[in-house]
Amino acid sequence: MATALCPGSFDPVTNGHLDIIERTSRHFDDVIVAVIRNPQKTQSLFTLEERQEMLAEVLGHLGNVRIEFFKGLLVDFAKDHGAEAIVKGLRAVSDFDYEFQMAQMNQSLAGIDTFFISTSPQYSFLSSSLVREVARYGGDVTGMVPPSVATRLTDRFPEGGDAR
Ligand code: PNS
Repeated sequence: MATALCPGSFDPVTNGHLDIIERTSRHFDDVIVAVIRNPQKTQSLFTLEERQEMLAEVLGHLGNVRIEFFKGLLVDFAKDHGAEAIVKGLRAVSDFDYEFQMAQMNQSLAGIDTFFISTSPQYSFLSSSLVREVARYGGDVTGMVPPSVATRLTDRFPEGGDAR
């Protein structure tokens, strides 16, 4: 059984994440979407429970994918769960430096390899933080996130968000 981790904050899950997770699930027997419990980013929009609910709603069709939380080092979580690979999406050159550094650190810490999948071009500009910002000011996030996530964002920022 080859197990891969798709780690992240998922605040919220975007269509870009979904693309990477779906493609990862075709290449590995078992995929764990690892949601970080203690992100360095302090400004979370959705609670952990909400993030898990949204992920569960959009990943239900993938039989070999499950959702787990972790805190601390990703490599420790990987060891505990028998995962031998981390899979990340690369959007643009700007992602590369940090992702490459993390991949080398994780390889050095625990011998775990990181595989990069190039993001599908239609999602290369997407990030959870930009989606949050667009929704906060009443912008249309249709096509950027799954419909159920868009509904939650609209509920969170009704009446055009914080733009008024
Ligand atoms: O969605 P994000 O916020 O870009 O995800 C970042 C994440 C959670 C993948 C990354 O911060 C991480 O792996 N954190 C766990 C702590 C850790 O292992 N740090 C050392 C990595 S070199």
